[in-house]
Amino acid sequence: MNILAIETSCDETSVALVRKPYEVCSNVIFSQVDLHGPYGGVVPEIACRSHVEVLPGVIEEGLQQAGAGWNDVDAIAVTYGPGLASSLLVGLAAAKALAMRLKKPICYVNHLQGHIYSPFLAPEAPAPESVFPFLSLVVSGGHTCLVRVDALGKSTLLGQTIDDAAGEAFDKGANLLGLGYPGGPIMDKLGREGNPDFHAFPRGRAKRERGLINGMDSDLCFSYSGLKTALLYYLKQNPIEDGNQQLLADVVASYQEAIVDSLVRKTAKAMKDIDTLAVGGGVSLNSRLRSRLAAYAEANGKQLLLAQAKHCGDNAAMIGCIAGLGLGRWGDSLMDCDASPNLRVTEQ
Ligand code: KG4
Ligand code: ZN
Repeated sequence: MNILAIETSCDETSVALVRKPYEVCSNVIFSQVDLHGPYGGVVPEIACRSHVEVLPGVIEEGLQQAGAGWNDVDAIAVTYGPGLASSLLVGLAAAKALAMRLKKPICYVNHLQGHIYSPFLAPEAPAPESVFPFLSLVVSGGHTCLVRVDALGKSTLLGQTIDDAAGEAFDKGANLLGLGYPGGPIMDKLGREGNPDFHAFPRGRAKRERGLINGMDSDLCFSYSGLKTALLYYLKQNPIEDGNQQLLADVVASYQEAIVDSLVRKTAKAMKDIDTLAVGGGVSLNSRLRSRLAAYAEANGKQLLLAQAKHCGDNAAMIGCIAGLGLGRWGDSLMDCDASPNLRVTEQ
């Protein structure tokens, strides 16, 4: 069964052809990063217009790279949330039109479930069924959460950010430092030259509020809004002169360490009775996070599954994977599903 998958939840237009359950035959990603760069963040109007312009070409490319034609498509999968409403609608409209025209079933997919299962797309990864229960750490520009997955379609949210996502913390920090957008990859590169212990930036407040946050252990919840304020005040008191690259790298490495430290510490706490950790989302590309998680896994005898670089950021292969696993919402009537911008991570 060949699944044509479409992803347009934010600022990447992506189309993949995935063979059930999740063999990736093509995965075309058109990034709009250059369009949003001048604004320092994603502009929803620009994002949805660009999806409208490029999606038809990206669909054709997705088929072509898989060596497939329209007759080879057996089902359509599409992200219906969470994300930007106007961006989601573009993919949904295209997917519904294709399903109707081709008379094929359609599967509506939760984008975050895609990130959760993305590490299993790596050729050497075990099948998800063989590692239940596993812990998923999803770290992206819009989300930061810890999810326990007990079976296909059965997951529990253990913790999430109470304010900014980890990727937002990178992007906003980079903005304060005048480093450009998106800040994550730039800080990752610069941070490699710096000393992570140069300055102790705060490690998030959520842990000090003992007890529960919406039923979740507050010590498994993240908080990053105080971190960027701490950087703002630090820079006011300690301006970095132009050209002082070493100082800049030290501040970046320290700021990055505060983000990574809280991710690793809370993940380790949530892993207590779980043997496998699966990590996905754009921030999981971060080299410091990868090496700290690898060290943790090695020291504690845990299995670590990291998404491959091409499956970390937003991509349609992970959406097709959800449909291939039989997850998602298979539409009986083609028009029955609306965009769901605030869809929760554990919903199908
Ligand atoms: O998953 P993604 O492509 O989109 C969302 O669903 O949000 O994640 C984008 C985020 C951005 O905030 C970007 O700065 C961050 O991932 N990112 C990184 C790295 N590469 C991308 N953050 C830290 N280190 C990186 N190497
Ligand atoms: Zn995403």
